[in-house]
This record gives sequence, C-alpha cells and structure tokens, in this order.
Amino acid sequence: MNDLTFLTEHHSVPAAQLHEPAPGNEQLDAILQSAMSAPDHGQLHPFRFLIIRGEARLRLSQVFEQAARRRTPDDEVGIRKQADKPLRSPLIVTVIARIIDSPKIPEIEQLLSAGCAAQHIQLACRALGYGSIWLTGGNAYDLSVHEALGLDLDERIVGFLYIGTPEPGAGTKQRLSASAITSEWHQPLRHDYSI
Ligand SMILES: Cc1cc2nc3c(=O)[nH]c(=O)nc-3n(C[C@H](O)[C@H](O)[C@H](O)COP(=O)(O)O)c2cc1C
Repeated sequence: MNDLTFLTEHHSVPAAQLHEPAPGNEQLDAILQSAMSAPDHGQLHPFRFLIIRGEARLRLSQVFEQAARRRTPDDEVGIRKQADKPLRSPLIVTVIARIIDSPKIPEIEQLLSAGCAAQHIQLACRALGYGSIWLTGGNAYDLSVHEALGLDLDERIVGFLYIGTPEPGAGTKQRLSASAITSEWHQPLRHDYSI
C-alpha cells in the first residue's frame, strides 16, 4: 500500500466494533506525538488531550448519564444510550481545543488546528493497526460534561476519539468523487488591478 491509498481507503470504525487491546502507553505516546505535527498557525498548540480508559470510562458513563438526564429527563431510553457510550471501546482520547487570545490568529484557525490534531490521531491509530471514530453529540457541548472533565472556560471539546482493535471484516467505503465538488477558477487577467 502506498501513502495515498492509506488516505483514500481510510475509514472510521463504529465504536461498538472497537475492542481490546487498545494501544498501550508506548504506542499511545507515539500516536499523540503524531498530533503535534498538525498544522498550527503561530505554534500556539491550541489543543490538549485527555485520556479516558479502564475504570474512568465507568465514571464518564455516569457523567454522560447525568448530563442526558438533565437535557432530556423524560427519555429513559436515550439516557441509557448515553450512559452506554463510553463503555463501547477500550480507549477514548478527548481532544480539547484551548482557545488562546491572539490578535493575529482567530478562534476558527485554532479550532481547525485542533481538528487536524484529531485527524492525525485517527490516522496514527490506523497506521499502528487500530481503528477509531470521532464522535461528539450533545455531551461534547454540555457544560456539565466540561466541568466534570475539568475543562477551563476557554476550552472546547473538539471530539471524543473512540479507539481500539477493530472487529475483522470492516471494509473500505465508497467515496464521493472529488471531481464532483471541485472546479477551477478561470478569470482573465486584469491590468488595472481593480477587483
Ligand atoms: C467534528 C465531528 C463530529 C462528529 N460527530 C459524530 C457523532 O456525534 N456521531 C456520529 O455518528 N458521527 C460523527 N462524526 C462522523 C464520524 O466521525 C465518521 O466520520 C462517520 O461515521 C463516517 O465514517 P467515515 O469516517 O468512515 O466516513 C463526526 C465527525 C466529525 C468530524
């Protein structure tokens, strides 16, 4: 496989199809290090990672359950679904954007940088034989979840990356052709430089 098919064949793996073993400490360090080469305007490093595994997933399950109970108190099925989420995969890496007050680099660029870091993590996981999926949902934007996870006020959850060993048989996906969303800008050159 050359580098390009590694990208064109990339796909997520549903969280419930991700099992033990998850990356160990050494591999996880390498995976997270790969995110440090994500594009980063001004070298602000506007992101950090929070690792959730083992028993901490049970605590996160309680946090998701309580948050869902507040959001949708009458939806017992939905509340159970939220509580089950952290228990599906052995490892969750929460990617947190830390928005830095900068006169030059707007918030959107910092969020994009954090998003690129998340994608680096997904690709690094796959390079080492693991699967992953990037999920958000209501929990990512719920302030009670932020508080439980220790986020500061200037921080946002970019995503929960669920990681583990994929079940055998997860195949490639049919993708939309890039040509369907690509055009070329053809404009005659103007000599008066006006727009
Ligand atoms: C910021 C972000 C948030 C996402 N949140 C969810 C989510 O909450 N639930 C979900 O089913 N997919 C979510 N996705 C999409 C999945 O990560 C994944 O891309 C999708 O299942 C398609 O699979 P594929 O990556 O193999 O094409 C999110 C993607 C991004 C970029």
